[in-house]
Amino acid sequence: MQSIISYKDRGNFGNSSYRGNCSGYVIKDLLEHFFPTSKPKKFVEIFSGGGTGRDVAKALNITNSLHLDINNGWDALEDEIPSGSDFVFSHPPYWDIVKYENERGYFNTNDLSNNMPYEEFIKKLNKINAKIYCSLVNGGRHAILIGDVRKKGKYYSIIKDMDWYGELESHIIKIQYNCVSDNKVYSNNNFIPIKHEHLLIFKKNDVLVVNIKHNQEIKTNILNSISATWRDLVQATIEYYKGKATTEQIYEFLKKSKKAKNNNFIREKIRQVLNTNSNFYKLDNTWCLNIG
Ligand SMILES: C[S@@+](CC[C@H](N)C(=O)[O-])C[C@H]1O[C@@H](n2cnc3c(N)ncnc32)[C@H](O)[C@@H]1O
Repeated sequence: MQSIISYKDRGNFGNSSYRGNCSGYVIKDLLEHFFPTSKPKKFVEIFSGGGTGRDVAKALNITNSLHLDINNGWDALEDEIPSGSDFVFSHPPYWDIVKYENERGYFNTNDLSNNMPYEEFIKKLNKINAKIYCSLVNGGRHAILIGDVRKKGKYYSIIKDMDWYGELESHIIKIQYNCVSDNKVYSNNNFIPIKHEHLLIFKKNDVLVVNIKHNQEIKTNILNSISATWRDLVQATIEYYKGKATTEQIYEFLKKSKKAKNNNFIREKIRQVLNTNSNFYKLDNTWCLNIG
C-alpha cells in the first residue's frame, strides 16, 4: 500500500448500487498490509453500508469479523462498539451529502446523514471515533475513510474539523471516481472539484493515555494583532474604507490598535508608511490602494 490509492473498479464486494459505497480493495489492501501473515484477532467494520467489508472478510477467510450499520439495527451513537478488536475500518457518511434514509426507506433520528448543522455532525462523529478508539486493544488500528464537502460555496474538511484519537500512522489520499457530482452542471464552476477522499490510520499506543488532537478555530481582529505590520494595518484600513481613506481616517481607525499602544508617534508612523510603500498612492486628499 502507498500513500495514494486509486481503484477504478470496486471489485466484487458488497452491493454495488448502495449509494456512497467504497471499493472493497481499500479494505482488502488495508487488511493485507497490516496482517500480511496472520489474520486480525477481531476485525470490526463500522458503517458497513452495502456489505463491502463483509464480502472482503469472506474473500480473505477472516471469520472473526463484525459489520455494523444502522441499516442492520446497530446504532453507532447509542450502542456499544464490540471491544477487543485490533482493526476497525469505518466509513461514515460525509455529513448529509448522501441521505441514507433514502437507502433504508425509513427515518432514524441517529443517522449521521440526517439534515443537521455541520457542528452537530462533527460532534456526533467525534463521539463515535472516541468510542472506536477505546474499543481497540493496545496496538490496534482505526482506519477511517472520509471525504471533504463543498456546500453552498463553502469548503468543509471533515478530517480537519474532527477530533483525532491516538497516533496518526498514515494519511492516504484515495482518488475518487464515479461521484454523482461528476454529472452535475454548476452555474458557477469557478471552484476546484473534489476528486479525492482521505484514509486516515490511527494507532492505539497506550492502554491508559489517550492522545486527542482537537482543532479549534479562533477569530481575532487585525487591530489586536502584534504580527501584522504597520503596512498591513494601513492596507486593511484603506480596504475597510472601500479603497480610499484620508490620513485622518486611517489615524482615527488605527489609534485603537494594539500596535498603537506601544507607539507614541502614530501619526508620524502612518505618514511614513503611506509615503514609503508602493502599495499606496495619493489622489487629491485621499490615499488609495495600489495593488491588484
Ligand atoms: C458511506 S456509507 C458506508 C458505505 C460502505 N462502506 C459500503 O461500501 O457500502 C455510511 C453508512 O453509515 C450508516 N450510518 C449512518 N448513521 C449511522 C449510525 N448512527 N450508526 C450506524 N450506522 C450509521 C449509513 O446507514 C450508511 O450505510
